[in-house]
Amino acid sequence: MIATTPRLRLEKLALTDALFVLKLVNEPGWIRFIGDRGIRNLDNAETYIITGPQKSYADHGFGLFKVSLLDGTPIGMCGLLQRSYLEHPDIGFAFLEDYSGMGYALEAATATMEYARDTLGLKTIMATTLPENERSIRLLEKLGLRFIRLTKTSLDGPEVKLFSNSSED
Ligand SMILES: CC(C)(COP(=O)(O)OP(=O)(O)OC[C@H]1O[C@@H](n2cnc3c(N)ncnc32)[C@H](O)[C@@H]1OP(=O)(O)O)[C@@H](O)C(=O)NCCC(=O)NCCS
Repeated sequence: MIATTPRLRLEKLALTDALFVLKLVNEPGWIRFIGDRGIRNLDNAETYIITGPQKSYADHGFGLFKVSLLDGTPIGMCGLLQRSYLEHPDIGFAFLEDYSGMGYALEAATATMEYARDTLGLKTIMATTLPENERSIRLLEKLGLRFIRLTKTSLDGPEVKLFSNSSED
């Protein structure tokens, strides 16, 4: 268990979460704002869990976590990533559309920021988002992250907005 909040719990993703992951990564919001990962069946979803979140837990001690209601219903992912193009870890999140607009993302992301600071000892947390992702930007600002500059995640990639909770970046 990574964290619990009044309405949610955050824990590491396991292979048994493949069906939930398959649904989440094919939601319109994920495809539009994060990208189409080409995950079309349970095998693909298991491979994603192993090579994505679970590899990150092993390499960095953190990654994207599963967010569930207290009754165990999975509703989203939220966690920390270490990108090659950023000098500090960044926060990421995605929720099923059925569970949006209820403050769940803010609740999970607030717990993730506290976990980063208090358990992992990370001072600087960044985030990147497409400029048109208004819901993500609103959430980042509620978390206390501020726009730093426009940047690119790769030479031929799209321009993204870089946010940080530290003004030194
Ligand atoms: C980004 C994303 C996680 C934001 O989710 P969200 O549902 O907007 O965020 P929240 O769950 O915090 O809900 C916020 C809304 O709930 C409302 N709300 C309702 N009950 C609430 C409560 N108890 N506490 C707080 N807010 C509450 C807020 O007022 C807010 O409304 P507003 O948007 O009109 O200001 C979601 O849009 C998503 O999954 N997008 C696709 C993936 C993605 O883009 N990820 C980010 C890539 S950078």
